[in-house]
Amino acid sequence: MRAHPDQATALQTTAYPATAPVTTGAKEAVLLVGGKGTRLRPLTVHTPKPMVPAAGVPFLTHQLARARAAGIEHIVLATSYLAEVFAPHFGDGSALGLHLEYVTETDPLGTGGAIRNVAHRLHSAPGDPVLVFNGDILTGLDIRALVDTHQRARADVSLHLTKVPDPRAFGLVPTDADGRVTAFLEKPQTPEEIVTDQVNAGAYVFTRSVIDAIPAGRPVSVERETFPDLLAAGAHLQGMVDSTYWLDLGTPQAFVRGSADLVLGRAPSPAVPGRCGERLVLPGADVAEDAKLSGGTSVAAGAVIGSGARVDGSAILAGAWIEPDAVVRNSLVGAGARVGSRTVLDGVVVGDGAHVGADNELLGGVRVWCGARIEPAAIRFSSDG
Ligand code: GTP
Repeated sequence: MRAHPDQATALQTTAYPATAPVTTGAKEAVLLVGGKGTRLRPLTVHTPKPMVPAAGVPFLTHQLARARAAGIEHIVLATSYLAEVFAPHFGDGSALGLHLEYVTETDPLGTGGAIRNVAHRLHSAPGDPVLVFNGDILTGLDIRALVDTHQRARADVSLHLTKVPDPRAFGLVPTDADGRVTAFLEKPQTPEEIVTDQVNAGAYVFTRSVIDAIPAGRPVSVERETFPDLLAAGAHLQGMVDSTYWLDLGTPQAFVRGSADLVLGRAPSPAVPGRCGERLVLPGADVAEDAKLSGGTSVAAGAVIGSGARVDGSAILAGAWIEPDAVVRNSLVGAGARVGSRTVLDGVVVGDGAHVGADNELLGGVRVWCGARIEPAAIRFSSDG
């Protein structure tokens, strides 16, 4: 891919200190939260992906709290899809000890365009490090270590890389012996194309001047355009492999897994509203004494779990109703939704306000749309019952 002339020019004229930089950490971050979250539907029909609750709070809360714990003070949220719901919830960020600002794209600008679009709100000097996070990644990444790596390497951009067993769905990022990025390879398919198991994990440190050099006012993909163009222009892109907990919460099954891992304490977050363990029951939930909650299940305020119900590894959102003797495994039941008596759900997402009648059996990957009605005993995967 050809380098953008303006990017190449900006990079050539970037002034870097002659002596080794002092690692002072980063104070600012950009969070990309404007995507449509199509893979996560119907959870994202009324709620943008970062606002879907995980372990009892909007998922974004975990990312904000982790950034704060790493010393970040100012975060600009790049919003677009359902942009209006973020500010009423998080306000100016003071409840989390942060200064939050919101910048909304009228038309989505893609990941790179969104970063460029918030540049005017950043206070960092041209040579300062600025963190950038995808808003759908749950990770135990050592954020300070990524910034240190960036500053020690005097990189233009540094990327958190993680190793995955099957990299076919990801962008591969091979590096040399010093960790310097040598290529960006989108979604490899043949064995010859899979040259590394390192993938882009969706957290970056940009030197501020590099953000200003992204073309303004048009859609840009940071993965498909900015990074390959920077590499072609001779920029220094540094990779840091950090193999701690990492999960892309882009699909319903991943989202449910991530929420359960937060409750179990496998995924670290200072924002889990309670003690980590088998279950997290929020104040205002009503759980029958003989109901069984396990595997990192969370039950939100106003939700009701009936007598004899078993809920494992699942997220039950606000006001949802699990009727007596229902079995819910590895599933998410949306706000105000209802799951009838004796119904079995395994690996299912029930959209907000949907009703699944009694004596149904819904398995692996079923998505019940928001507000839908499934009659009692209408669907089974097995012949019994
Ligand atoms: P899918 O539609 O399911 O692929 O999800 P998505 O729309 O979130 O896209 P993807 O997972 O590729 O996005 C990665 C991150 O970038 C997410 O945190 C998105 O919210 C964010 N993002 C993607 N596109 C845009 C955009 O045009 N503007 C902004 N502000 N953020 C975006």
